[in-house]
Amino acid sequence: MRKALLILSVLMLTNCTQAQKIQLPAPDKSLPMTLMEAFQNRHSTWQHSDAPVSDQDLSTILWSAIGINRPEEGRITAPSAVNAQDIIVYVMRADGTYLYDNKENALVRVSKKDLRAAVCGNDPKPRTAPIMLLLVSDLNRFGGDSRFARDMAPLDAGYVSENICLACTALGLNTVPRMTMDRAVLQKELNLTDIQLPLLNHPISVAK
Ligand SMILES: Cc1cc2nc3c(=O)[nH]c(=O)nc-3n(C[C@H](O)[C@H](O)[C@H](O)COP(=O)(O)O)c2cc1C
Repeated sequence: MRKALLILSVLMLTNCTQAQKIQLPAPDKSLPMTLMEAFQNRHSTWQHSDAPVSDQDLSTILWSAIGINRPEEGRITAPSAVNAQDIIVYVMRADGTYLYDNKENALVRVSKKDLRAAVCGNDPKPRTAPIMLLLVSDLNRFGGDSRFARDMAPLDAGYVSENICLACTALGLNTVPRMTMDRAVLQKELNLTDIQLPLLNHPISVAK
């Protein structure tokens, strides 16, 4: 009986872990579009199709955003003030909300809820996008709240946002950087403290 219970709990734990962590495919680091072509083609899109975006493309976008590009030093694709790496990226989809773990290239589920409506806020235009990324600056990574941290956080978010824009362009996907969102709902649902600041979001969709 005890053995059966032990096996049952191991199985439940395994299922639970599987449900909470999604290992992403390796990012595609050899997209054919040149940097200059990406600059030429980057633009914001406000109307989004609801066609699914693949985990392969999502992995490439997330790696471009804050992926580790120098493993020996643990440094990332986007520059950050004093290498704080304060920008953390949440992924909102119909099947729940995830935190991107850049060390494991994995999605860690933080909520079963679809929080895309909260990312839309009072502007429903992006509501059909299958994926929304939320950029949060965690001021703890600067050692806590300070004038310096509050000044640097939006700058760091800007670099990550531009990386996302260019990766989406190179993948032929639509996006737009947005400051509009329902911050109060997102703070509550994601259990963010008052020094974890939702700064920008990116709806992402397949180009029509
Ligand atoms: C910091 C920042 C915040 C933005 N916030 C919003 C927003 O809340 N809603 C929106 O529809 N577009 C937003 N945008 C997108 C801009 O309106 C868009 O970049 C601008 O119209 C220029 O168009 P382009 O990106 O196609 O060059 C934002 C852009 C930036 C850089």
